[in-house]
Amino acid sequence: MILILAPMEGVTDAVFRQVVARAQRPDLFFTEFTNVNSFASLKGRKNALERFKITETDPPIIAQIWGRVPEYFSETARALQKMGFFGVDINMGCPDRHVVANGGGAGMIKTPELAVECIRATKEATELPVSAKTRLSYSNTEGIQYNEWLPLLLKEQLSMLTVHLRTKTEMSKVPAHYELIPEILKMRDEIAPETKIIVNGDVKNRKEAEVLAEKYPGIDGVMIGRGAISNPFCFRETEPTQKELYELLLYHLEVFERDSRRPFETMRHFFKSYVKDFPGAGEIRNRMMVAENAEEVRRIVKDAIMGL
Ligand SMILES: Cc1cc2nc3c(=O)[nH]c(=O)nc-3n(C[C@H](O)[C@H](O)[C@H](O)COP(=O)(O)O)c2cc1C
Repeated sequence: MILILAPMEGVTDAVFRQVVARAQRPDLFFTEFTNVNSFASLKGRKNALERFKITETDPPIIAQIWGRVPEYFSETARALQKMGFFGVDINMGCPDRHVVANGGGAGMIKTPELAVECIRATKEATELPVSAKTRLSYSNTEGIQYNEWLPLLLKEQLSMLTVHLRTKTEMSKVPAHYELIPEILKMRDEIAPETKIIVNGDVKNRKEAEVLAEKYPGIDGVMIGRGAISNPFCFRETEPTQKELYELLLYHLEVFERDSRRPFETMRHFFKSYVKDFPGAGEIRNRMMVAENAEEVRRIVKDAIMGL
């Protein structure tokens, strides 16, 4: 069973991937999703290239892209091959209002023919394995349903198909539909036996992934998203000690200062990953939240380690 860190915009940048690699590396990383339109434009290329930066602990890593213009998929895929990626993944599941309004992400489920065109354009442009990540359907009542949508994608003989087991309109509000896994595996076996099926949704850690893989032995892998935010050690067998969490936060700060181009405030999303579930955690976190730079947080962490 392959364990994968899910692509997460604003989270799984090169900094966070290095942090997870230090805690316990999954088998495979994904970049955050990047718009092929911006890669194809003079104005957006610099930023897109920044998002495609690969660091030493990244490989094997898959670049995730989104958009709706087949030529831009080709152009981006050609470039990705030269950058050292292990594969190219097409996002067909993002529910973000702006992405969907643009016809990308989960919006692609509404234009299945265009989705297929984008896959083909990508496959033709690169020798890298091409995969897709999608949801079951747009909604339970609207448009193409999972029992047509997934076969349509499988027919493209993707290297891998990650299924976030919810519809777009379900967002993350209902439990993932694990009950559909056997049916999805059957479709795969019939249509594209070589395509790896990766299951995604609500799996919090390695143990839970192993339980799922034991229950559904046909799945090839499990992808973990939010579980890695709430516990960057989620790919490890054992739970971290508080000292390990603090030490990882120190490492996170160090890598952030060295490699991130994002404002320091974005670090605040992560303090809860390291400081929670013990008496006094809220107070320490509150001090971190008002800190204005990495050095201030570092001092708070060092104090906290002394107090252990
Ligand atoms: C903050 C955040 C950003 C996300 N960004 C992306 C993205 O860039 N590409 C993508 O395919 N999915 C994205 N997702 C969806 C996750 O990859 C994953 O499918 C979803 O969170 C369900 O898995 P989980 O229950 O393990 O979190 C994002 C999710 C979150 C919470």
